[in-house]
Amino acid sequence: MTKKEVIIDKYKKFVMPTYIHTSVVFVKGKGARIWDTEGGEYLDFFPGWAVSGLGHCHARVVSAIKKQAEKIIHVSNNYYNELQPELAEKIVCHSFEGKVFFANSGAEANECAIKLARRYGNPSGRYEIITMEESFHGRTIATLTATGQDKVKHGFEPLLEGFKIVPFNNIDAVKNAITDKTIAVMVEPIQGEGGINVAGKSYIKELRKLCDGKDMLLIFDEIQTGMGRTGEMFCYKHYDVQPDIMTLAKSLGGGVPIGAAIAAKRVADVLTPSSHASTFGGSPIVCAAAIATFEAIEKEKLLDNAKKMGEYLRSRLEDLKKDFSFIRGIKGIGLMLGVELSIGGTNIFEKCFKNKLLINCTQDKILRIMPPLIVKKSDINRAVGIIKQAMKSESGS
Ligand SMILES: Cc1ncc(COP(=O)(O)O)c(C=O)c1O
Repeated sequence: MTKKEVIIDKYKKFVMPTYIHTSVVFVKGKGARIWDTEGGEYLDFFPGWAVSGLGHCHARVVSAIKKQAEKIIHVSNNYYNELQPELAEKIVCHSFEGKVFFANSGAEANECAIKLARRYGNPSGRYEIITMEESFHGRTIATLTATGQDKVKHGFEPLLEGFKIVPFNNIDAVKNAITDKTIAVMVEPIQGEGGINVAGKSYIKELRKLCDGKDMLLIFDEIQTGMGRTGEMFCYKHYDVQPDIMTLAKSLGGGVPIGAAIAAKRVADVLTPSSHASTFGGSPIVCAAAIATFEAIEKEKLLDNAKKMGEYLRSRLEDLKKDFSFIRGIKGIGLMLGVELSIGGTNIFEKCFKNKLLINCTQDKILRIMPPLIVKKSDINRAVGIIKQAMKSESGS
């Protein structure tokens, strides 16, 4: 058996079969490139489902992890550590005045947001949270209940009480769903899993007004859109509207597992000592990696690069429309783009993979393309060439 076959065989024996795997074992990554066991080099335009936003093994992150690993890896949250408040300050300085809770994943960050909302609403007997169709908020029981896609819920019933799911980008649907039990509205500024559906500017502004008028909390799930992905540090900055709670994970740690919920002070302080916790949350090693991630974005001007390269990638993808009538449009902001097709996208996705380009296909007809913030024009040219080739064979031309 080859090394690859041995690894896959062990997966089948010892790892729960919760994922659909593409048949490749990756062993090394650097920047926008990743290598398999046979030495095959791939261009990665969907690095780690948006986790490796700086590209693989960014030098600043690697060096921060190495340095911290030699000092101290974990400190219990019953003691202080040097790095947790430094990271919290960085997040707050880049977003809004508030306080941060650290967790280990996106689902946990959203759990914290849900718990904050419930505690905040508890004195007035309010606990219902309105979320959106096609949304994705995680796989814990609370966050899969909040998610607006039935496929993640199947077989896990009974689900949690207190969530109402309404059509996305429809302010009247939100208004109609509000009851005297509603405490919050939770929304992704751009639905990632849902198919790169961008929230309208007036919709987000109306949501803010609605929440202000009824003392409800506006929660932005920025787990996929955050950390420069759209050319702003956080996507909500495109909207000139501030949330009461924002959740982060994925690329926050430059590749290591971390989640965070940031809440305005009046909301944050409802979580009193012992009301919420995470054993691993905010440990020095992940905080060091996340601080290095912020530094990389700031010092290497990666927001500018995301804006410029996002425009360039979008224009190259728009060009493809001339050749392929099955492209319905290009959606998204910055480096979070979706190519909407009128045909299924799986074949194109698979052909790209064969030609050593990693992208994603979501909701069957959306090619999701999210290169790292460090991406160069030459990488984009190569990637678009591979996508074009894959589309050509699909259209038979
Ligand atoms: C918008 C959004 N929220 C939450 C999550 C869940 O994050 P995790 O898989 O880290 O729990 C995801 C993951 O894809 C996501 O895209």
